[in-house]
Amino acid sequence: MIKQQARADEQQTGTSRRHFFKMLAGSPLLAMAYPGLSPAWQREVDRILARDQSASGRATRMVCADCGQAFQLPAMRPMRSSMPQAGAPQSPTPNALDVHLTGQLIDAPGDAINVWDFETVAHANTLPQHWNYIHMGVDDFETRYANRAGYQRLSLRPKRLGPDVPKLDTSVSLFGKRWATPLFLCPVAALEAYHTEGESGAARAARARGVLQIQSHQSSQSYEAIAEARGEPHWFQLYANQDWDVNKRTIEKVAAAGCPVLVWTIDLLGGSNRELSRRSQGSEGYSRPLCQSCHNHQPGYQRPMHRGVQGPPGPRPAFDWDYVKRLKDAGKMKVVLKGIVTREDAELAVLHGADGVLVSNHGGRAENSLRGTIDSLPEVVAGVKGRVPVMIDSGVRRGADIFKALALGATAVGVGRPYVWGLGAFGQQGVDKVITLLLEEFTMVMRQARTATLAQIGPQSVMPGATPIMMRDNRQGFGL
Ligand SMILES: Cc1cc2nc3c(=O)[nH]c(=O)nc-3n(C[C@H](O)[C@H](O)[C@H](O)COP(=O)(O)O)c2cc1C
Repeated sequence: MIKQQARADEQQTGTSRRHFFKMLAGSPLLAMAYPGLSPAWQREVDRILARDQSASGRATRMVCADCGQAFQLPAMRPMRSSMPQAGAPQSPTPNALDVHLTGQLIDAPGDAINVWDFETVAHANTLPQHWNYIHMGVDDFETRYANRAGYQRLSLRPKRLGPDVPKLDTSVSLFGKRWATPLFLCPVAALEAYHTEGESGAARAARARGVLQIQSHQSSQSYEAIAEARGEPHWFQLYANQDWDVNKRTIEKVAAAGCPVLVWTIDLLGGSNRELSRRSQGSEGYSRPLCQSCHNHQPGYQRPMHRGVQGPPGPRPAFDWDYVKRLKDAGKMKVVLKGIVTREDAELAVLHGADGVLVSNHGGRAENSLRGTIDSLPEVVAGVKGRVPVMIDSGVRRGADIFKALALGATAVGVGRPYVWGLGAFGQQGVDKVITLLLEEFTMVMRQARTATLAQIGPQSVMPGATPIMMRDNRQGFGL
């Protein structure tokens, strides 16, 4: 049952700092108030002002969220030339290639040409600590890079002449339900950090396009509120607690709300070295008033999915494979294991009753020096031997990536950061456009390859390429 009550809960906790900063930036009292603001607040106001100026088409001064350094951003509309801006300080000269490689500050979702255009806007809209949280990879970002490089090293093998493919069928079946597309939205924590619409905004966009969505256990909003926004129950991702009763209560709660599939994340049981997040917490972390105002604005605040299911905080313990059965028995839901990257684990997962596996390295946020997931996929598919669906995420940024993953045996293909960039930039409409872009790219590749259905996409559709053609990332690490 979807409870109306939950929505009121969410609204109470979802007060937006962004709106406050916008209001302050637009106020005539700003000049008086500004000197008295903390440096962090001054930076936020600077960023809002800079965005407003850029929307009006003037070159604008930006402050880097990561290092605090001021730099010149090209103006949006008239910018598409390599001519230096009159009066601009020494700055990189903007030209179309720079913009293409690093994204541009667009004014509306419809202006986006690819998913990275949303990254730039989301960065400009987001508090530095929250940006660092989504942007980071562990250690030296090697796994993040590997995720992209893996797709780039895989080449397409299109067929040319043959029967016409006037109508493409992109639908796929998962656990008895037919989805319009193989694309899904990965579980990402705390989406209200990126937009006040949070998970519900993503849910509305995903539902409208027939896209599956997995809610994070660390979501900003409750299961019921998201399902209500979506208009149907969705999948739920679990971080298992050391206390079985906590897990049992959580599972019973989402099962009672109609959740059909539980996704158990098992790639973060030993900790992760999140240096970028630690750095930003060190300088302006949770102990600062700005951060405290949203994380601790209510005494004893807990994220919705942890309320009423009290249990000890602390490290996630090692679990054994028998836990899969325990989770299944507790909720009578299908259980998918998220984080499988080897053949051996794939075999064990199926042996112990997993209904599906999700090949994921958490978007490079769990361990450094892993292969890209597209490189892990073939051995996982070999281990599963067609007995359960194999899903994949991490580093998917293009429709061609979806095609490549399907060719190597995936049933469904997920994105994490890209839809959150869309959300952070424009809320639901941004997510909608991210989905649209990915699916348009995907169907174009399908048409080019003369594949009318997903079943026609197979190992013959791809082959190993030589080297990555182009890494998009710029000085700030955008474009991954
Ligand atoms: C900001 C952020 C928060 C995330 N939170 C969760 C989470 O709560 N649970 C989870 O299983 N995975 C989480 N992930 C991992 C995603 O589910 C997914 O595996 C990953 O984002 C895919 O890689 P991509 O971002 O390169 O598309 C998170 C990822 C990001 C970027």
